[in-house]
Amino acid sequence: MTLIDPPVQERADRRGRLAGNWTFFRQWLKNPLAVAALSPSSQKLAREMIRQLPEKANRVIELGGGTGVFTRALLDNGVAPENLMVVELNAELHQLLQSQFPGVKVVCGNALDLERIVEREGFASDGGVDAILSGLGLLSMSKGFQRRILSAAFSALKPHGRFIQFTYGPASPVSRDLLTELGLSVQRGGVAWRNVPPAAVYVYTRSRSKPVHAVRVGRR
Ligand SMILES: C[S@@+](CC[C@H](N)C(=O)[O-])C[C@H]1O[C@@H](n2cnc3c(N)ncnc32)[C@H](O)[C@@H]1O
Repeated sequence: MTLIDPPVQERADRRGRLAGNWTFFRQWLKNPLAVAALSPSSQKLAREMIRQLPEKANRVIELGGGTGVFTRALLDNGVAPENLMVVELNAELHQLLQSQFPGVKVVCGNALDLERIVEREGFASDGGVDAILSGLGLLSMSKGFQRRILSAAFSALKPHGRFIQFTYGPASPVSRDLLTELGLSVQRGGVAWRNVPPAAVYVYTRSRSKPVHAVRVGRR
């Protein structure tokens, strides 16, 4: 085992974060709608997201990993690398995540195709997923995209599984109509006031009264 001097390690971590932030900003310049934020989320927001995980969450999917702020927090909070799958659309960010988290299944793909990805990777083959953490810019997506992403997500989640989402908006980024249509309930979690901009966390689960039906639609 190689021992690294803590200040040296801290400087290396800081350099790594700065390089990640710069890559993230360049991707935002190329595609502001998809990247949906100028800079990665803060540790405070990561903590608010992690707080909403079900107790003993074993298998977890992260959508829109970016530079890996939530990925790191999930691993630090006991999710085993082999039980974590990250789906990232942007090829450069995907490469960055792969190099930073070698033990994690990092897929370059579209959250719209989550059902197919989960099946292909055999990720939910033995009982389903406990939680999905989403860093996607759900608020700026059409209702059609939201419907497809949530249906695919709930087809992978266990019956009591949670879809955990943050938003910069003042309310749930998914409308009441769509929640009713999909048989979902929402609860507001914490707010990370010091995130830039401040962000609130919402948790979506299946309503007891109505099951979520998968929406099968063609490719974009
Ligand atoms: C707001 S950033 C969040 C990044 C990171 N989770 C964080 O909180 O710092 C949104 C991320 O989702 C990715 N993304 C956008 N649309 C996506 C899609 N349809 N499927 C998978 N990833 C997507 C973007 O490339 C970007 O990395």
